[in-house]
Amino acid sequence: MERVKRFVEFLNLIGYEEVRLSGSSEVRGMESFDPVRELEKLEKEAKKCCRCRLCKTRTNVVFGEGDPQTNLMFVGEAPGEQEDLQGRPFVGRAGQLLTRFLNLYGVKRERVYITNVVKCRPPNNRNPAPDEISTCYPFLERQIGLISPKVILCLGAFAARTILNLPEKTPISKIRGKKQKVRFGDREIYVIPTFHPAYLLRNRRGEPEFQKDLENALRLAGLI
Ligand code: URA
Repeated sequence: MERVKRFVEFLNLIGYEEVRLSGSSEVRGMESFDPVRELEKLEKEAKKCCRCRLCKTRTNVVFGEGDPQTNLMFVGEAPGEQEDLQGRPFVGRAGQLLTRFLNLYGVKRERVYITNVVKCRPPNNRNPAPDEISTCYPFLERQIGLISPKVILCLGAFAARTILNLPEKTPISKIRGKKQKVRFGDREIYVIPTFHPAYLLRNRRGEPEFQKDLENALRLAGLI
């Protein structure tokens, strides 16, 4: 950041009056770089995407929603039926449970950013296929870069394996709760894997551990 600032000061010094920082650590060309605007552009691009077979069966692309300048990002697996119909992440039963857990801490959904590894619903809620995940990953990678959160809470095995680059069969039970620092570009982000809220709907015994991970993430992000 210091180096970028000095570079901008130098450009100003040599006569480029329009160059300034806009809260981001990037300077693109001679223009100011606005991550929020870039995120909107990325969303438009995602909404037209047909890079994999899921575009043929989706109703809506579910890009993500929330505070684009938050310190805490939640990443789930893929949209389900309700998400596909409404074009919003985590609005079905699992999403309602997630919202209730956030409310326990007095945190509104709007204060975090919620998205998924795969932006389109796999038919009949099947697991996303490896090629669908890898084709969609550039969108998630770009979202993470633009939002630049302090913490990512991975909801379920697919998010954890994708973000931590773990082998395909790694069980969530082996990694849940283990906080790791991961480098994304010029930034280190805490990544915490936890259970998927849909798993909690079937296994209420997982709730205390989920709550512990959520609380940890909220604290690290400075939201509680
Ligand atoms: N499950 C997910 O992984 N994501 C959603 O958006 C909804 C359910």
